[in-house]
Amino acid sequence: MKTRWYKDAVVYQIYPRSFCDSDGDGIGDLRGIISKLDYIKELGVNAVWLSPIYKSPNDDNGYDISNYRDIMDEFGTMEDFNEMLKGMHDRGIKLIMDLVANHTSDEHEWFVRSRASKDNPYRDYYIWRKGRGKNGKKPPNNWTSRFGGSAWEYDDTTGEWYLHLFSKKQPDLNWENPAVRKEIADICNFWMDKGVDGFRCDVITYISKEEGLPNGKFNPIMCGDEHFVLGPKYHEYIHELNKNSWSKYDSYTVGESTGITYEKAPECIDEKREELDTIFGFEHMCTDMYMEVIPHKFRLPRFTKVLTKWQNLPSGCWNTLFLENHDQPRSLGRFTGDYGDKRYEAATMLAVAMQMQKGTPFVYQGQEIGMINCKFRDEDYLDVMARQVFAIAGKIPFGKAIARACLAKRARDHARTPMQWSACENAGFTTGKPWMMLNPSYKTINVEADKNAGDKSIFAFYKKLHAFRIGNDVIKCGDYRQIDGGNKDVFAYIRSYEGKTLAVICNFKNKQVNFPIPAEVSRGKLVLGNYKDSRIGQPLRPYEAAVYEIGK
Ligand code: NOJ
Repeated sequence: MKTRWYKDAVVYQIYPRSFCDSDGDGIGDLRGIISKLDYIKELGVNAVWLSPIYKSPNDDNGYDISNYRDIMDEFGTMEDFNEMLKGMHDRGIKLIMDLVANHTSDEHEWFVRSRASKDNPYRDYYIWRKGRGKNGKKPPNNWTSRFGGSAWEYDDTTGEWYLHLFSKKQPDLNWENPAVRKEIADICNFWMDKGVDGFRCDVITYISKEEGLPNGKFNPIMCGDEHFVLGPKYHEYIHELNKNSWSKYDSYTVGESTGITYEKAPECIDEKREELDTIFGFEHMCTDMYMEVIPHKFRLPRFTKVLTKWQNLPSGCWNTLFLENHDQPRSLGRFTGDYGDKRYEAATMLAVAMQMQKGTPFVYQGQEIGMINCKFRDEDYLDVMARQVFAIAGKIPFGKAIARACLAKRARDHARTPMQWSACENAGFTTGKPWMMLNPSYKTINVEADKNAGDKSIFAFYKKLHAFRIGNDVIKCGDYRQIDGGNKDVFAYIRSYEGKTLAVICNFKNKQVNFPIPAEVSRGKLVLGNYKDSRIGQPLRPYEAAVYEIGK
């Protein structure tokens, strides 16, 4: 029986490598997470999404899995996992694991066998093709890897190429093969039988490739998408996986769905289809980028137009709400402009703007204390994507400088610097040498300092927000309507349900602005806000965010 518990959930995402290290090897681990379960509980969330913790050679920090049924050495053991899961459940926290099923590591036993010869049962677990050109030395088509360069790698052993839409150490699985689909369902069942509550499904919309793997339309950065994003058998495969696994449990699934627009969303998440429960739509995250990677100016109206569109998903569909994850730079600055000494106001305003909407909110580790982007030198970037960008850019004139400028704003590394627990050595993250540089901001931005910041504590605000949100039917079920006060710096909307109405008003600028209030919301009681004395109709102070209960 599906209780659809996720509609009342706030999910906290943990990137385990950077969360908390318990044994001094400089890498976060499961016992580190266990030591912070009370912290997570205190934040008032009721679910955790854990980025991959399975065995992996870590070419892409765990998104390259070499054994789906075992724990990465650096992270601990299955006993640690069991204890962590119990610790979560004892505290009323559900656990969502990361299901990386579009590809495996090239060190997975399946691939080791697959590449060994053309005629073994595992050959067809992956996508092998002959090359083009006289000696077959050209890749089979022009598709590009999401990390840059060709999506094909030549393999000497059998003289054929394999497809990898990410790094060459992440070969794509061949979902056409029923044995592969069965393996994936079995893996899901393995973890759900242990008590896991759901999955975040990594690049799930890429699993079905068009027959014949035709060339993509010319695109120097991302070529081939039209042949594998929501490919021809995508729905068949997901429905089957739902039937063979997810539907047997009170589970929740959220699909990472790069490239899926609002118009396409219902075919992926409408309850009647019995596929995924929700997806992460990235349209709002692309409003300050060209071609999904090149930064351009953030404009609030463009951003809120997308959010508003997604608020109006047809009934039977459920939304997700997020501004950060391990692939995105930090939201402070990005969506707020220069916040100067108003970090508390800016961070809490973003929290209100997102979490008063309809859907399941996700908070990424560090967001709850207002962590910020980091300044990196070229050699500080560790992410496989950043390294690949530099390698490719280095071959073209001014390429490095352009890459540097893009990465300064966009690199995934920004979200991956270790969690800042205190101002102590290594931010209290580890007693050893951190696997990745710390953001020097930890001296002032850290959990301990934030919790001691009294009425300027971002953590305390999130806690209040979660307590207000969870179980509030107006937020969960209410209608949504954006209010147009004619000010392009303000995001305001009304939520209403069974005669109750909330008005949400957020100033995205670090300056005072006027926002003419429509008559219908001119009287109301302040129920949540980042300034204690907000009043409807007054000019909005820098990053002022307020939620009013509107009287009849
Ligand atoms: C999306 C994940 O979020 C990202 O971190 C990873 O690099 C790719 N998928 C490949 O698994």
